Amino acid sequence: MKRVTAKAPINVALCKYWGKRDETKVLPMNDSLSLSMRDVLTTTTVEPSNELCFTIDGVVQSEAEHEKVSDFLAHFTDEAPHVHVRSKNPVPTGAGMASSAAGFAALGVAANAYFNANLDTQRLATIVRRGSGSAVRSLLGGAVVWHRDGSIESVAVDVEAWRMVFVVIDDRRKTIGSREAMRRTVATSPTYDAFVNRADSDVKKMISALQDGDLDAVGQIMEANQDAMHEAMAQAVPPIVYRSDASHRARNLITTLRARGIIAYATMDAGPNVKVLVEERMLTRLKSELRRAGFARVLVSRIATVGAVVIDEN
Ligand code: DP6
Repeated sequence: MKRVTAKAPINVALCKYWGKRDETKVLPMNDSLSLSMRDVLTTTTVEPSNELCFTIDGVVQSEAEHEKVSDFLAHFTDEAPHVHVRSKNPVPTGAGMASSAAGFAALGVAANAYFNANLDTQRLATIVRRGSGSAVRSLLGGAVVWHRDGSIESVAVDVEAWRMVFVVIDDRRKTIGSREAMRRTVATSPTYDAFVNRADSDVKKMISALQDGDLDAVGQIMEANQDAMHEAMAQAVPPIVYRSDASHRARNLITTLRARGIIAYATMDAGPNVKVLVEERMLTRLKSELRRAGFARVLVSRIATVGAVVIDEN
């Protein structure tokens, strides 16, 4: 019986995408850049079944999610998809940890092989972004730029000595999804344009900071970029606030630790959870300080050199 499994790295945006998107299209208004995670991966299996079934970590998903997967699979096959899509996530789903983005990247690569669609990576990028915008960046490894024209590119960087620490603050599904949050921000926030205007130049500066291996420069651009995104959301009507008191507490802790010599920087996406970029040699100290401050639930990842790929299960 044919069965295909693909794995895809979760990606952490150093420069965010916050764009126009509706049910069928994603129109990134700015370039964005992320690092793909080597040790935090989503795996997705596509296998024959009597009818379409979609599970995440063994839990059957809602009818709306089934519809989304069915629409997604229509890009790979003209026939009704009689398959079971089984996804496994290392981090909470729908909590701003980009697991659904990695999930769609893995599903795209798995479906491409399962249905023998033979689509190339750029074509896959136009499809997977319908499932989740930032999914495109999980198709590649390393530092990945998603250009505003839709193309993706992996930039050669040497970040082997860096680690990303996922600080799990709240694993509940967010109440406002990123789609609605984007729609509202674009339509009503007076500072959305300011975010878009700075975003492309942030990506350019970020690429050279990454190529220089300058974690301080990378961290400063990353923190300022995410502040601009969250501020634009906070000024939407009604406001969208993803960062919680605990997120701010973690961010402040990171700032304090820098003053004590631990080179680390924090970012947050569409959820309260915090990701901290740090040099490996500072990791033990960082983790113990986080634990001491009550942030005991952490996951640590190296940076991936490859993106979403089919796994040979034989
Ligand atoms: C805040 O990719 O989750 O993480 O397209 O609605 O699935 P959908 O949005 P999603 O957008 C979240 C964007 C972000 C920043 C980023 O990853 O660039």
